[in-house]
Amino acid sequence: MDSSANNNFVWLDEYKIGHDTVDAQHQYLFELANRIIDPNNDQQTTHLNVEALYEYTHSHFRDEELLMEQYNYPDYELHKKAHKRLIAELNAVSGGILTDETPRADVVKFMSDWLLIHILDEDMSFGNFLRKIATQSTN
Ligand SMILES: [Fe+2]
Repeated sequence: MDSSANNNFVWLDEYKIGHDTVDAQHQYLFELANRIIDPNNDQQTTHLNVEALYEYTHSHFRDEELLMEQYNYPDYELHKKAHKRLIAELNAVSGGILTDETPRADVVKFMSDWLLIHILDEDMSFGNFLRKIATQSTN
């Protein structure tokens, strides 16, 4: 058996945006992503995994948006739009995963684009913003 099969998404410290809660949630999203693409899962497990990812994504996005509101993040509206787009994509892809119509490679690509591009670009910008206001308030 391919031991790397369950390990496509490897969490690295460099993915941290610098907010402990958000970072822990992102790391858990990686874990859920690995579960989703595990080729050894049967249909029922896949169904449960997609449901878990779906629910966790919603609550994670809500937590991020609350934080952004709390800190008056200037790109809040833009970020909210990005989340909305990701949810729409997730809706489309999860349908295909559940019916087995989406090839595994496509699911991997979707998950990696989603996790890495959004976290490394948009979430990282929020992390940089938080760092900036933290330095300002200590000066
Ligand atoms: Fe985000």
